[in-house]
Amino acid sequence: MVTLLASGCLRVIGAQHGVAVGAAAKASALATDPDYGPVLSREFGMLTPENEMKWAQVHPERDRYDFSGADDLVAFAEQHDMAVRGHTLAWHSQNPGWLTGGSWTRDELISLLEDHIATVVGRYRGRIAQWDVVNEAWTPIGLRLNPSPWSTGIGADYLEIAFRAAHAADPDAQLFYNDYGIEVAGAKADHVYAMVADFVARGVPIHGVGLQMHVTSYFDVAQLEAQMARYEALGVKVGITEMDVRLPVPPTPADLDRQAGVYERAASACGRSPICDTLVLWGFTDRYSWVPSFYPGTGAALPFDEDYAEKPAYDGLVRGLQAGGP
Ligand code: G3I
Repeated sequence: MVTLLASGCLRVIGAQHGVAVGAAAKASALATDPDYGPVLSREFGMLTPENEMKWAQVHPERDRYDFSGADDLVAFAEQHDMAVRGHTLAWHSQNPGWLTGGSWTRDELISLLEDHIATVVGRYRGRIAQWDVVNEAWTPIGLRLNPSPWSTGIGADYLEIAFRAAHAADPDAQLFYNDYGIEVAGAKADHVYAMVADFVARGVPIHGVGLQMHVTSYFDVAQLEAQMARYEALGVKVGITEMDVRLPVPPTPADLDRQAGVYERAASACGRSPICDTLVLWGFTDRYSWVPSFYPGTGAALPFDEDYAEKPAYDGLVRGLQAGGP
């Protein structure tokens, strides 16, 4: 058992070792659960709106934006000196019906995408540290573009159109490509690496790659370390952007210990990497995790349990951050 520092360990230790430790956050939980905000601001120095900045929530009608949830989360972050990761400006999921059901020309879709990005990124100009500009563009098998209004209506150049629009709207924000399945060696990791290398070579404004890290407790962190290292050659950052480590529920003590080990080694890998300074969990308490509804029979994926008690994973993160960078 690690002797924990004063409360706020993850945020404090992370900052001491050059890692911004964050969590995805829900505006609804912030508004209704009195325990949620205090733990979030005590333990984390960064937050990502889990859903509140996605097209379906922030742009529900063609001529109407709804920034209420996003504004609440950004305001909370600023009140508690937390950085914000914006998520996400172009994805194949959680798009509103008016967009997916419309019949658009390529030029119309380019205008819709550019106008959305100018509006959303422009609203938070100077207040968002990193944006997930494009999320999960490629299918894990076959490496085709995930079908979306952007990929089918614009084509493969929608990605760089989005990055250029985001950079124009906030030149100081660090712009990320975010994906899963690229934390390990394989065709998808190679494909995304080649895409990022091409963007860098052509001057497309990209600054980082988000490695989501939605994994099980058997994940081999050496794979993550190898994928992180390859990006050093490109002069971009890498970030762990959506980490959770799902377990069969109810988890055994061995499951929880294995989970702690994965969190520990991932935190250490980020701290020791010269290009990783971001470790964001996808939530922080099992009470609100997306995992049980998407992976039935699994859960318990986060460092706080449903009653906000620290799990072995919490101590694993502390150990990993302490073993990380200078
Ligand atoms: O907003 C509606 C609400 O009006 C409705 O009453 C309710 C019940 O149907 O659904 C609500 O929408 C849900 C939304 O979360 C907001 O809560 C969707 O059904 C639900 O599918 C959606 O799930 C989100 C999921 O992305 C969608 O794919 C999860 O909360 C979110 O954690 C998850 O996050 C993604 C990242 O954005 C990208 N990387 C993968 C990660 C996990 O899938």
